[in-house]
Amino acid sequence: MKRKILVTSALPYANGHIHIGHLVEYIQTDIWVRFQKLYGNDCVYICADDTHGTTMMLRARAEGRNEEEIIGLMNVAHLRDFNGFGIEFDNYGSTHCEENRTLCNEIWSAIRKAGMVEEKEIEQLYDVEAKTFLADRFVKGTCPKCGKKYQYGDNCEACGAHYSPADLTDPVSTITGTVPEIRKSKHLFVNIEIEHQFLNQWVHSGALQPEIENYLSGQFLGEPLHLWDVSRPEPYFGFEIPDSPGNYWYVWFDAPTGYMASTWEWCKRKGHDFADWWKNPATEIHHFIGKDITYFHTLFWPTMLKTAEFTLPKKIHIHGFLTVNGEKMAKRRGTFILASTYLKYLDPSYMRYFYASKLSSRVDDMDLNFEELESKVNADLVGNVVNLASRTAKFAVHTGLSDYYPDDNGLFEQAAMLGDEIAEAYENGDYGKAIRLIMECGNRANKFIEDAAPWTIKLDPARKTDLRDICTIGLNLFRQIIVYLAPVLPKLKTQVEELLNCKIDHWGLSKEHLLGTQVNPYKHLMTRVEKSGITKIIEESKQENAVPSASGNNSVGVGVGNSVEDSGDSLTAEPLLETKISIDDFTKVDLRIARIVEASEVKEARKLLRLKLSLGGGEFRNVFAGIKAAYEPEKLIGRLVVCVANLEPRQMKFGTSEAMIVAAGSGNAGVAGHEIFLLSPDNGAKPGMRLH
Ligand code: 2FM
Ligand code: ZN
Repeated sequence: MKRKILVTSALPYANGHIHIGHLVEYIQTDIWVRFQKLYGNDCVYICADDTHGTTMMLRARAEGRNEEEIIGLMNVAHLRDFNGFGIEFDNYGSTHCEENRTLCNEIWSAIRKAGMVEEKEIEQLYDVEAKTFLADRFVKGTCPKCGKKYQYGDNCEACGAHYSPADLTDPVSTITGTVPEIRKSKHLFVNIEIEHQFLNQWVHSGALQPEIENYLSGQFLGEPLHLWDVSRPEPYFGFEIPDSPGNYWYVWFDAPTGYMASTWEWCKRKGHDFADWWKNPATEIHHFIGKDITYFHTLFWPTMLKTAEFTLPKKIHIHGFLTVNGEKMAKRRGTFILASTYLKYLDPSYMRYFYASKLSSRVDDMDLNFEELESKVNADLVGNVVNLASRTAKFAVHTGLSDYYPDDNGLFEQAAMLGDEIAEAYENGDYGKAIRLIMECGNRANKFIEDAAPWTIKLDPARKTDLRDICTIGLNLFRQIIVYLAPVLPKLKTQVEELLNCKIDHWGLSKEHLLGTQVNPYKHLMTRVEKSGITKIIEESKQENAVPSASGNNSVGVGVGNSVEDSGDSLTAEPLLETKISIDDFTKVDLRIARIVEASEVKEARKLLRLKLSLGGGEFRNVFAGIKAAYEPEKLIGRLVVCVANLEPRQMKFGTSEAMIVAAGSGNAGVAGHEIFLLSPDNGAKPGMRLH
């Protein structure tokens, strides 16, 4: 029977670009959805941008635009990147929409009605300069337990202690670098302990992988569940809570509701009934997420859904983090790779195939090793799969396909029988297994062609029928493999449809022969991975990340399963050594004379001074410059320097940097012995003058 399946991937934060860490999840989900559709199920793939929260508010302030404008631009960028990788949503919405507000209201009313809301006054750190309470990630200080400096406000990386930001010794706001004060404010909490029994049962309902069941039972469900703090006082970018003016729902309240809001949008567009999808026990809801956001989806979210009488998730598919070449993705190593950078140099099919071949149903982390990607793609896709077509299609153009299926020693039958096992592997998320089985079919088919050697009989007019029969077998075995690979490689599937004049639109085709038809001229289906493409990606990623930018590339959002090593607090760009730029590019840089009017130390940063530059005419820029080792702040005041005035503002740990001052240096910035020399103009230059 046709299943009704609603599938989601975690909603990416709207303040960051899509990178290869995110793609593990979107590719994984897209494959699952394509498989379900090919298998004949009624399946929709829903996603949206996750737009609310303090980070978006601060970014909007730093860039001097409103949040909606940023959301709009990022939405376009996200869709462009997803599209580039063949990720096809049925609807891609935004949590900042009226449907979402309505759904939040509905769920909130149900939670209130169930008597689950509690109000409490709590103490929190407040940044007076930024006029905002500070979430854990926006505070750093000394661990109250082991004394390690520069720890975030929620836990210590050195000793693992958990605490609240107010417990830190010497806390500093990472937004402005100022010392925050403790302020009281009213927060609303949801008492999820009321649903403890329900959660105990749901966690073991088959919705979760065994390791996740164990984690939840061990870490959370063994004791009373804590209250969940779901409100934030203004200023906050989000939805104001209707019955609590001045308070907003915490972003994690209205993010998962975005799954529903985006479905609702799709329903309106397609004329479906929303209740059919979210209030229907016959509908299967499947969420794909990274392991770091497990508890939001397995404790809070089911509680919200149950209380408001929506359908509970049938399954939450949780994956691990991505490492690159065995290490955390790191900007300085060039392994923090944006989707858009990858797309400039390599075929997205390589990445789709590589990730598929590595995925299992477990929560394990995955390593992307570029040499492995290269050898896998070259051997499996080019050397095995595509080879089958290239060795037979060029003859079949002339012969067409036989109108009977010739004897192939049982190969077609054997591969057809594997269809159920391959389908089961896809269903269970064990794509690695599916790929292994499919490649084995390819190996057997290639061996057959090798032995039959159509190229040795191509010129023998007496063996025309033999030639046609061999090609018929080769291309049927090839098509069968393409049916199985279609969820992973949709582009290849489309090319093969064109080559063989047939639609590949249902799984059952893997059991049917294609006979008596013409074959179109063979065009290259896929080329080998170029090493130079990989090198370019890494090099460009190093450079992109060396240049400070507020374009969101440095997002802290890691919920879709990425582990990113921070680039630290340096603003010093890595040298661009071999790179040539055009005059046009150079003239885009607005170099100007500026006067340093304020200078002070950023106590918590090893290398940074905070500077205020006057560009004349009342124009100023705040800058964080990595020159602490070389200059005493007081001695800089009044000095003329050269600055890059049109850099996009960049949100740093200690505040926003709005420009860059130009300095020369030896060695590596921040390393002992490194010297720094600020550039200054000759006498007579004035602040604001442009450099030509
Ligand atoms: O962690 C993250 O990246 C979040 N933006 C994921 C949200 S998923 C859902 F709940 F909306
Ligand atoms: Zn510690």
